[in-house]
Amino acid sequence: MRTSQPRTIYLKDYKVPPYLVDHVDLRFELFEEGTRVYNSMEIRRNPDADPGQPLELDGEGLELEGLTVNGLPLAPSDFEVTSGGLRIEKVSDAFTLGVVTWILPQDNTRLEGLYKSSGMFCTQCEAEGFRWITYFPDRPDIMARFRTRVEADKARYPILLSNGNDVDRGDLEDGRHFVTWEDPFPKPCYLFALVAGDLVEKRDRFKTQSGRDIDLRMYVEPRNAAKCDHALDSLKRAMRWDEQIYGREYDLDIFMIVAVDDFNMGAMENKGLNIFNSSCVLASADTATDAAFQRIEAIVAHEYFHNWSGNRVTCRDWFQLSLKEGFTVFRDSQFSSDMGSPTVKRIEDATLLRTAQFAEDSGPMAHPVRPDSYIEISNFYTLTVYEKGAEVVRMIHTLLGEADFRKGSDLYFERHDGQAVTTDDFVKAMEDASGRDLSQFRLWYQQAGTPVVDVTDHYDEQARTYTLTLSQHVPPTPGQSEKQPQHIPFAVGLIGERGADLPLKLEAGASDAPRNRVLELTGAEQTFVFHDVAERPVPSLLRGFSAPVKVRYPWSRDQLLFLMSHDSDGFNRWDAGQRLAVDVIQSMLGQPQEQTVDPRLVTAFRQLLSDTDLDLALVAKMLHLPSEAYLIELSDVADVQAIHSARTRVLNQLALELQDELLACYLRNREDGDYEPTPEAIARRSLKNTALGWLLHINEEEARLMALKQFESATNMTDQAGALRSLVNSDFEADRSKALDAFYERFSDDPQVVEQWFSIQAGSPRAGTLPAVEALLEHPAFDWKNPNKIRSVIGAFAGQNLANFHAEDCSGYRFLARHILALDSTNPQIAARLVAPLTRWRNYGEVYREGMRAALEQIQARPDLSKDVYEVVHKSLK
Ligand code: PHE
Ligand code: ZN
Repeated sequence: MRTSQPRTIYLKDYKVPPYLVDHVDLRFELFEEGTRVYNSMEIRRNPDADPGQPLELDGEGLELEGLTVNGLPLAPSDFEVTSGGLRIEKVSDAFTLGVVTWILPQDNTRLEGLYKSSGMFCTQCEAEGFRWITYFPDRPDIMARFRTRVEADKARYPILLSNGNDVDRGDLEDGRHFVTWEDPFPKPCYLFALVAGDLVEKRDRFKTQSGRDIDLRMYVEPRNAAKCDHALDSLKRAMRWDEQIYGREYDLDIFMIVAVDDFNMGAMENKGLNIFNSSCVLASADTATDAAFQRIEAIVAHEYFHNWSGNRVTCRDWFQLSLKEGFTVFRDSQFSSDMGSPTVKRIEDATLLRTAQFAEDSGPMAHPVRPDSYIEISNFYTLTVYEKGAEVVRMIHTLLGEADFRKGSDLYFERHDGQAVTTDDFVKAMEDASGRDLSQFRLWYQQAGTPVVDVTDHYDEQARTYTLTLSQHVPPTPGQSEKQPQHIPFAVGLIGERGADLPLKLEAGASDAPRNRVLELTGAEQTFVFHDVAERPVPSLLRGFSAPVKVRYPWSRDQLLFLMSHDSDGFNRWDAGQRLAVDVIQSMLGQPQEQTVDPRLVTAFRQLLSDTDLDLALVAKMLHLPSEAYLIELSDVADVQAIHSARTRVLNQLALELQDELLACYLRNREDGDYEPTPEAIARRSLKNTALGWLLHINEEEARLMALKQFESATNMTDQAGALRSLVNSDFEADRSKALDAFYERFSDDPQVVEQWFSIQAGSPRAGTLPAVEALLEHPAFDWKNPNKIRSVIGAFAGQNLANFHAEDCSGYRFLARHILALDSTNPQIAARLVAPLTRWRNYGEVYREGMRAALEQIQARPDLSKDVYEVVHKSLK
């Protein structure tokens, strides 16, 4: 057990800061054996705070070398170094505080604060990393202007970067040099960044809507020089899009992007100096898959969009994290939707939400989009804050409509520019600009849990009315047993016998009725009557996934088949296919091997594979059977092995019955020509590789030859990795290991590709993968200090390889627990994230449940766990 209980921080305890910092002057002396940080802060008493409070600064892992007030050293009796910081009892109303600290970036494995990654220095300060660099009031409502001078050896670190504009540079003694940076915009310290290294610079330009020229610079290690184009092109598209859609123009003269190999998250929006995980920014056709190309475009845009939604207007405190993340994810999803296929983007977002966020929302870590408390804020960079937060903003967009939403966003940026604000301020701006009352809507920020909407209907032939009754409830979550009804925008359509959308008249005789309507569900139960309905319709419910809720309606399989081919809403077409497949798989749970699949599902898939008029991108998505993770989320008590076996049997039978169609589909979509990550080409490759995977699944010899050929002649990573994955997941033992060796040999010097090589193996559902996964941890390319490697082996195994992770002998759980404990002392953030697959143990069948619980208890028993892991494990077992 942990010796002392870590402290819980509550939103209700928020107080304005007693002191403000107007200006920070930093000087970094970077050496191999350590870094000296000189920090000079202009501080004044906050007129809005209670007077007479001591000055408290945060600090962790710092060696204090000097402390001055207005240039004079402070006597040891005048201050106190506490466990988490520094306290000065008596200060005047305005003064300059000087702090000198000595830190050890080369030993920093937590990857927060200043650290070294493959020979370069870089920083990560969100959420509370700045306190590992110097003493400072490390909270986002302290916004200061920063001036930063970086000094280092010139040969080793020719490039020295920080936020803003470079205002001075020069040479120093002993082969050292310096560059000084000045950021004119006040910012919270979590947006501070510094980079020093031997990097190549890729330059580009962007002319803003008002005609200003912006210098775009991307910095990477020399070996990655050829992997920058896609990120820079994405950046320019994002900059243009933000001007066109939100009227937001970039505000500094330089915008910099840096790629680093060791990074806890995807990327970071530091002012003017975005730092990226290499895997989220570097791409070339022969090393990055389509998925990587799309991810990079989205993340580059996301970080860029933060310049307004996050940096110019930031968060008052970390409970408001979704203020910047929810809004920015919404913005990047609109952008991706505009750049590619809107339906596909919606399907991807909804899949992530329904699979992973719904699981989080019904587990022990469930929390509102705006949490009320936390022990470690790093644990709250969650799907709920990001993805559900984005859905909440999306619902405001749906309720207000495009034009009023834009007015609201303009008002928000204008009213709060340069401020640190709350989610409530955001909603208020939306209300003020549109005149709409969003008071009930605010519950989306306050109540955790996924609302369930139950739908019943009645068709009255005589009266020609069709009645939909919607009722909602939000299940209890930790700390919230009673919930109020929420404001749910519920988009619907009614489909007539011939497959056309019927007019939706909420009043009899109304003319020009729309065929798509957003019903606003606000009560616990509400009835909507549609008039002049000539025939019994099939309802198309929650079109476009208009709210992050679960819908229950007793669809028959025939109705689902009907929707699959007739719904004018692409999302619901896909969804009908998913519901049908879920129903079929669930009905096969625990059934004998010979149980055959409903022939209607086979027919539906045959049609999808053969109809060449259909939207390829949609078909590619529709061919994916619901994942095991989703099927687990849908069960009250999950029997993972039964789910895996039922799903595999469905897949097998479909593949066996549809061999000809799969083969034809494969051949039809095999394109030559230059690689392009366009939506059509991506859909084509996805279809082709799905077909290949299915065919190999049933040990088709012809497919084996096709896979080998594709593997050998592929001109892009999507096809290369697609063929490799199919072979690895097949029973063709010899081909599998040959292909794996050849792939490694070819790409062993490229970390991003090696990560794919790891995750294809760790994620392989073939029986008994665990020993192979343990062997990967011994592979020379594996590195315990590199989060991407950990994610691509341990993360892929526990998060995607569910049949093996949930082995009935509980070996997967013990494996995970052991490595979480080992990682906790080097990188607690990564360790805590790996606990997630164990947290929902209560929702599993007994063997699993007990095994997962035992693993959690084993972790909990370790003395001196990090706050990070402690919080997740403790809450899970509570
Ligand atoms: N703020 C980053 C983003 O969403 C994520 C991040 C959080 C990165 C914490 C690092 C540390 O873009
Ligand atoms: Zn973000």
